[in-house]
Amino acid sequence: MNLVAKPLEKFVTNSLEQHWMPFSANREFKNAPRLIARSEGMYLWNQNGDRLIDGSSGLFNVAAGHGRREIADAVHAQMLQNDYTAPFQLGQPTSYALAAKLAKILPDPFNHVFFTNSGSESIDTALKMVMAYHRANGQSQRLRFVSRERAYHGVNMGGVSLSGMVRNRETFPVVMPNIVTIRHTWDADQTFTRGEPERGAELADDLQRHCETYGASTIAAVFVEPVAGSTGTLVPPKGYLKRLREICDRHGILLVFDEVITGFGRLGKPFAADAFEVMPDIITMAKALTNGAIPMGAVSVRDEIYDTIIDAAPENAIEFFHGYTYSAHPAACAAGLATLQIYEDEGLFERSAAMSEYFLDAIWSLKDLSVVRDLRGYGMMAGVEVAPEEGKPGIRGNELQKRLFWNGCHVKWTGDTAIIAPSYIAERSHIDEIVDSIRKTLETL
Ligand SMILES: Cc1ncc(COP(=O)(O)O)c(C=O)c1O
Repeated sequence: MNLVAKPLEKFVTNSLEQHWMPFSANREFKNAPRLIARSEGMYLWNQNGDRLIDGSSGLFNVAAGHGRREIADAVHAQMLQNDYTAPFQLGQPTSYALAAKLAKILPDPFNHVFFTNSGSESIDTALKMVMAYHRANGQSQRLRFVSRERAYHGVNMGGVSLSGMVRNRETFPVVMPNIVTIRHTWDADQTFTRGEPERGAELADDLQRHCETYGASTIAAVFVEPVAGSTGTLVPPKGYLKRLREICDRHGILLVFDEVITGFGRLGKPFAADAFEVMPDIITMAKALTNGAIPMGAVSVRDEIYDTIIDAAPENAIEFFHGYTYSAHPAACAAGLATLQIYEDEGLFERSAAMSEYFLDAIWSLKDLSVVRDLRGYGMMAGVEVAPEEGKPGIRGNELQKRLFWNGCHVKWTGDTAIIAPSYIAERSHIDEIVDSIRKTLETL
């Protein structure tokens, strides 16, 4: 692995106050900060110079490990060559090269890619594509969107509207109208299921019920995370996604896979669509596209969707009224190209598939701990759910995240569930180190 050479630096800052940190307990954090001064490979170094293993590959995006020189060099060279090109009605070579490379990795009918800067922007973009497609297709009465309980689709208003997480809905109640949810797939009777649960495909029939309640011809699209990530790795039951696909096909409803976490090898195949052998109509992606080095997201659509939207517009008119100042930023494209090259050269998606069994074995070794309430996992992604403190959901998870940090391991917690998703460069010894650290930390309870 080619790494950027860096001196070991201590973190120096005069004040933490001015930065309003995202998804953080600002007051608590600033009283006892956890700061990262350096990262390399599977490791991070904190403000005291202590080494931590990265059990969540950042936020599940640093799939090729930290500090990759190839990416840094590509970004540096691109910035010197051409730092910025206005992306509306102007082009620069790297975006076409990246879109073409992505089209090769994406499933067959996906040959067009729209660039964004994050997963949240990808969701907003996908919502607009759905609307534009139905309008172009003479179906503009399709204005209802279907999402799921326990869904997370990012933080922009589109994603919050689709969200199935109560905290999002309570704090930000003014959302898009006409969104209905179907049930989540977690089942208390199937805890500790490794891979896809046997029972639950019929939960997809909730969509059919909505068709019967609201009229199928009013429903535009269904948004699903193939494996719900941010609510703790909820693996779909066997046959569930296929059944959703069938119901969508029956009624002309578009199926959107939010692959912001599951894309780029996390499930051992390029995309979850490949892993579960179910083809959606639209795929949103972000996280591992640039290995976390530069913000970037993307949305890809089946050819038929692209052609319909493009062909419906008058000649020489802008076909899709949407785009960001930083869509297809040259530095992000350069990072994306270098990242996809690393995945290919090092066979990292195959490596993810090959390591999955060892990884899940290691996770399942935690089953004997009495505080562990459920284990779930697929590919290189697992949820370790602990029993909540009496009447205080999420408090134990927050405490454990801190204890783990000081015990030498970074893991992202969501409520009382740890989401373990290491980089695909992880050796068995790294996985052992992550799981040992989790065991030791859980034993302190
Ligand atoms: C499935 C899914 N969609 C969308 C997002 C939002 O991505 P971002 O944080 O890059 O906006 C996330 C982030 O975790 C996600 O997991």
